[in-house]
Order: sequence, then structure tokens, then C-alpha cells
Amino acid sequence: MQIKSFMLRAAVLILLPGFYAFAQTADSLERTDSLELKDSLERKDSLERTNSLEAVNSQNATQAWNKVYEVFSHPRCANCHVPKDNLPRWSGPHYGKTSVHGMNISGGQSRIGVETIMCSTCHAQSNSDEPHGPPGAPVWMLAPVEMFWWQQSSKQICEQIKDPARNGGRTLEDVAHHIEEDELVHWGWSPGKGREPAPYSAQETADFVMLWASAGAPCPE
Ligand code: HEC
Ligand code: HEC
Repeated sequence: MQIKSFMLRAAVLILLPGFYAFAQTADSLERTDSLELKDSLERKDSLERTNSLEAVNSQNATQAWNKVYEVFSHPRCANCHVPKDNLPRWSGPHYGKTSVHGMNISGGQSRIGVETIMCSTCHAQSNSDEPHGPPGAPVWMLAPVEMFWWQQSSKQICEQIKDPARNGGRTLEDVAHHIEEDELVHWGWSPGKGREPAPYSAQETADFVMLWASAGAPCPE
């Protein structure tokens, strides 16, 4: 009896630490596991956050570009940014549907009309006050042919405006600056009586260009 209870106690004394040690290892293993899990969850979380930040960025960039396109493709801008036929366009309630400029006007390759009749023969430094009088701004002329926007898609204008070979050797910052500073561009927002101005403002448009540029200037597919 005495021997039996001694052996029992001995067994307990021998086995218990082993069990205790085992239990501890399991516990710390579990803790390590849960730490690793937490770690990887956090990593996943921050990856998802980065991904969703990128998604928000590219969504903002696309929205900003869409607004730039709204401006560039507006008749007050695109009617001067015409293809190699060199013919200015006019459009709006003032003119009827979009068509080539009346009176057989052509910019010629000079884009300012030296070949036939100079734009400045009719277009003065500022808008005429007369109904249907010619609008005006300093150096009234067509945009160079490579800056062609009239009836071009969002993708086409997007690719053109980013290409220094076709945008007058400009960075996108220069493009934004041109929109902020240039008097012909500004005319698009004060085009004279009876003509619808371009949407937004020159400053907003320049800001949209910079926002789009800062997110890598993505073009539509
Ligand atoms: C013979 C006179 C005359 C000449 C030359 C002339 N224009 Fe015009 N242009 C006008 C008149 C007038 C209007 C306004 C018509 C109206 O409002 O109904 C006009 C309007 C315009 C518009 C405004 C169209 C719009 O929808 O916003 C543009 C752009 C334009 N001309 C470009 C040119 C360019 C570029 C040249 C030179 C290549 C030129 N014009 C030469 C008389 C002329
Ligand atoms: C009367 C004609 C005319 C009108 C209207 C006009 N532009 Fe232009 N645009 C030009 C000419 C000319 C140039 C070339 C200027 C240069 O390169 O220095 C030009 C160049 C530009 C450029 C330089 C880069 C590039 O590739 O096109 C931008 C940006 C631009 N225009 C924006 C606009 C916007 C925005 C509007 C309307 C709000 C507008 N323009 C309306 C004649 C016009």
C-alpha cells in the first residue's frame, strides 16, 4: 500500500512536469501561430489598403482626365484644333450644327491664313460686340495640325497631349501652365455673346491635368 502510493506520487511527479512542459510548448506554439496569423492578416490588410488606395487614385485620375477631355473636345476648343484640311469649324446655337467656318475660310498650312485671307482680317484682339461679329484674341489662328482634337476620341486626345512630339515639346506641367496662361485658351471661357463657354474654368482644367499627371496620366483603353 505504502509502496503503491509512493509509486503513484513518483509517477505524478515525473509525468506532471513533462505534461506541463508539453502544455506550455503547445501554448507558445499557438501564440506564435496567432502572432503569425495576426502579422499576415495585417500585411494582407495593408496590401488591401494599398490596393484600394491605388484603385482610388486611378479612379480619381480617370475622373480628372474625363473632365479634361470634356474641355478639350468642347467646340470652343476643338473648333481651332482641326485636322490637316486646315479649316476652322464653328458650332453652337449661334452657328447651327457643327460645320466648317463659313465664307470659304482656310487657315492654310500657315494656319493663320497667309495663303488666302488672314484670320486677323476679321478677328481682332478682342470679341466683337456685334451679334454674329467675329470673336477675337491676340494672334487668332488655328492650332498646329499635330494638336488635332476635332471629333477625336478621349483615347486619341489623351495620347496626343502626352506626346512631346505632338504637343509642342511640352511636359504635362507645361500643358497645365499653357492652360493657365494662354490668351487663346482663355478665350474658350469668355467666347463672346451667344457662344457657350467651355465647361469648368481654366484654373480647374489646369488642376485636373496636374491631378491626372500625378497619378501617372493613364489613358482610356
Ligand atoms: C471674313 C472674315 C473672317 C475671316 C477671314 C476669318 N473669320 Fe473666323 N469668324 C468670322 C465671324 C464673323 C465669326 C462669327 C460668326 C458667328 O458668330 O456667327 C467667326 C468665328 C470663328 C470662330 C468661332 C467658332 C466657334 O464655334 O467658336 C473660330 C474658331 C474662327 N472664326 C476661326 C477662324 C480662323 C482660324 C481664321 C483664319 C484661318 C478665321 N476664323 C478667319 C469671320 C472670319
Ligand atoms: C483660336 C484658336 C484656338 C482656340 C479657340 C483654342 N486653341 Fe488651343 N491652341 C491654339 C494654338 C495656335 C496653339 C499652339 C500654341 C503653341 O504651341 O504655343 C494651341 C495649343 C494648345 C495647347 C498646347 C498643347 C497641345 O498639344 O494642344 C493646349 C493645351 C491648348 N491649346 C488648349 C486649348 C483649350 C483648353 C482650349 C479651349 C478652352 C483651346 N486650346 C482653344 C489655338 C486655339
